[in-house]
Formats: sequence, structure tokens, C-alpha cells
Amino acid sequence: MKKIISVGRGGVGKTTFIAGLSLLLKERGPLLIIDADPDENLSYFLGIEEDLKSISEILFNIKEAKIKKELERLPLAEKIDYLIQQEALYERDFFDFLSLGVKWTEGCYCQPNNILKGIIKRLEKNYNFVLIDSPAGLEHINRRITTELDYIFVLLDPSQKSLDSVERFKRLLKDLRIKFKEIFLIGNFRYPESKLHLIQEKTGSSYLAKLPYDKKVEELSLKGEPFTKLSPNSLFLKEIEKIIKEVRL
Ligand SMILES: Nc1ncnc2c1ncn2[C@@H]1O[C@H](COP(=O)(O)OP(=O)(O)OP(=O)(O)O)[C@@H](O)[C@H]1O
Ligand SMILES: [Mg+2]
Repeated sequence: MKKIISVGRGGVGKTTFIAGLSLLLKERGPLLIIDADPDENLSYFLGIEEDLKSISEILFNIKEAKIKKELERLPLAEKIDYLIQQEALYERDFFDFLSLGVKWTEGCYCQPNNILKGIIKRLEKNYNFVLIDSPAGLEHINRRITTELDYIFVLLDPSQKSLDSVERFKRLLKDLRIKFKEIFLIGNFRYPESKLHLIQEKTGSSYLAKLPYDKKVEELSLKGEPFTKLSPNSLFLKEIEKIIKEVRL
């Protein structure tokens, strides 16, 4: 199993990147796609229309005893697993999908971090790839999801702030003792070719790729339509294909 996450500042293209990756990895599934962003827009890109519950909603319902009577006597882990299978996990031929949701306020549930970690650990065993779309910043995902990752893709827009964030990410990963194999920097669709050299100069790390601007990607995301509508010749998908080869995913 390989666990992959996209991180970066707001609007850099994290969700788009994960959606593109999922399309190209589908032949090598099973894939689990986790939406860790409370905004939950990844489901549009994946063409999911069902009204799914998020993990946080399920935990909330358990805590508030808003579950079926016959489930009440089950141990907590079994309750959680059963309800996730029934109400939260979206299962299709080429991927499964799960949303973490929003209700992670203090006091909402005892040790939500550990519970969530446990859930993901149990689930992820069943997949070849786990792809995680995170909200802006790394703080949100910190301890909640996992302490082990394989590949971290940091998407960068052309701004000093974006480049500054790389160092911050790395420090945070270290502080939180999150293990990972490799971290890759990617210039996003707005990054001018002529300025890519700044990535190396200002962060001390070279960049892996630059994603091209793709009109169709913009159009689909504007309409909330799935990326399966992208042509296999899409510039965007072609670049992601190259990344997959280069990284040997
Ligand atoms: N390769 C691309 N070509 C053209 N437009 C793109 C591309 N990638 C992303 N976009 C545009 O940028 C917008 C933001 O992308 P996306 O939602 O993936 O960013 P994000 O980092 O996930 O944002 P957030 O921080 O809000 O979660 C998209 O709605 C889309 O219009
Ligand atoms: Mg996003």
C-alpha cells in the first residue's frame, strides 16, 4: 500500500491533483480516496452524487446515540466499522471514497484523533493506494489522519509565501513525527516556466514537475463535473502520467 497526500496553500490545485492521480492509478487499484477537506469538493471531480455521511458525522451520531438500537450493544470499533461501511464508504469499480467531515471540535468525541487514526489504519490495509486530499495548510491533517505517509506532494503557486511554506511544512512534519518516504515540490498551473528556478533557489530543493494550465480542467471544475470527462490527451493528465513514472508510483 502506498499513501499519497497533496498539500499546499489555498487554491493551489491540491484537489485537482488528487482527482487526476486517481484517474491514472485506477488500473492499479484498489484505491481509497480520502477527502480530508471539510469543503468536500473532491466528490464533484470524482462524479459522486450520493449523499454520503462523513466519518465525523458517524462518530457524532454514535456519541449522541442516534444509531439503530440493535447496534448499541456492539463494541465501539465494530459500531464504527459497520456504520462506515453502511453510510460513509462509497464503493465503485475503480475506487472507494470516504470523507472525514467537519465536526472535530473539542469535546465532540473522546480522542477523535486516535479513533480516526485507528479507522484509517484498519481500512487502508485493503488498498494498493490511499490518496488523501487535504485542506489548505498542513495543520489540519496533523495528528488526525496518519503518522505514516509515503509521498507528499507540495503544490506551489508563484508566491514568496508559497515558497516559505515549504520549510514550515517540513518542520511541522518533523515536530509531529510524521514519517514519510519522500516529499516532492510541484509548480502549479499558474507558475510561470521562467520563474521555476526560484523554487530551487528559495527552498533549496528542486521541483519535480510543473502542472500545465488546462482549460478543460478549469471548465469542469467550474461546472462541478467529473474528471472522467477529460480526454486522455489532456495536458494535465499527461503531466501527471509523467509524474507517476518519474516517482515510480
Ligand atoms: N491544471 C489546471 N489547469 C487549469 N485550472 C486549474 C488547474 N488546476 C487547478 N485549476 C483551477 O484552480 C482551482 C483550484 O483548484 P483546487 O480546487 O484543486 O485547489 P485546492 O488547492 O484544492 O483548493 P483548496 O485549498 O480550496 O482546497 C480549480 O477550481 C480550477 O479552476
Ligand atoms: Mg481542495
